[in-house]
Amino acid sequence: MKTRDAYQGDKLATIELWERCSLTRPSNDPSQDFDFAYSGPSSAVIVLEIDSAIVGAALVGRGSTYYVGVEPKLQRSGAGRALMTAVEDWLRARGVWKLNLLVRRENGGVVSFYEKLGYSDQGCVALGKRLDDRADRVASH
Ligand SMILES: CC(C)(COP(=O)(O)OP(=O)(O)OC[C@H]1O[C@@H](n2cnc3c(N)ncnc32)[C@H](O)[C@@H]1OP(=O)(O)O)[C@@H](O)C(=O)NCCC(=O)NCCS
Repeated sequence: MKTRDAYQGDKLATIELWERCSLTRPSNDPSQDFDFAYSGPSSAVIVLEIDSAIVGAALVGRGSTYYVGVEPKLQRSGAGRALMTAVEDWLRARGVWKLNLLVRRENGGVVSFYEKLGYSDQGCVALGKRLDDRADRVASH
């Protein structure tokens, strides 16, 4: 098991993994998210590999991480912890001193995973607003 920064050619396998992990939503475009993180100066996609197969992936940047997912059949075997260690190392190496992340309310069970890794509820409400028209485009289909 090893972690590395994704290559552009990893996009399809990474998105398929995120889909198997139920991390994609109609309101988000994982291809656009991958490209944005991959090409940005302060972001990346980190992948976890076993025998050259992508079995975990996370998007990292701006002091946060998104799309943290591990191949369903490999969950609960330490892969998620290894992936998050790589995410933290990536940020630490760039001078970032705090990682904030969001967990969807419907996915609350996963909070225990993050707590095991030392994360805690920050007592904040997450607010967001789209700056593009994707929500309208999705709704009209
Ligand atoms: C969340 C996820 C990445 C965890 O990956 P994983 O490989 O199962 O995690 P690990 O095996 O490294 O677990 C690390 C620790 O957390 C615990 N843990 C993992 N998932 C847990 C859960 N759902 N509930 C309680 N504890 C959990 C493990 O038991 C382990 O504890 P230990 O160190 O005491 O043995 C994985 O379950 C996943 O991909 N889920 C679907 C996508 C998702 O919801 N991502 C998070 C979006 S916010």
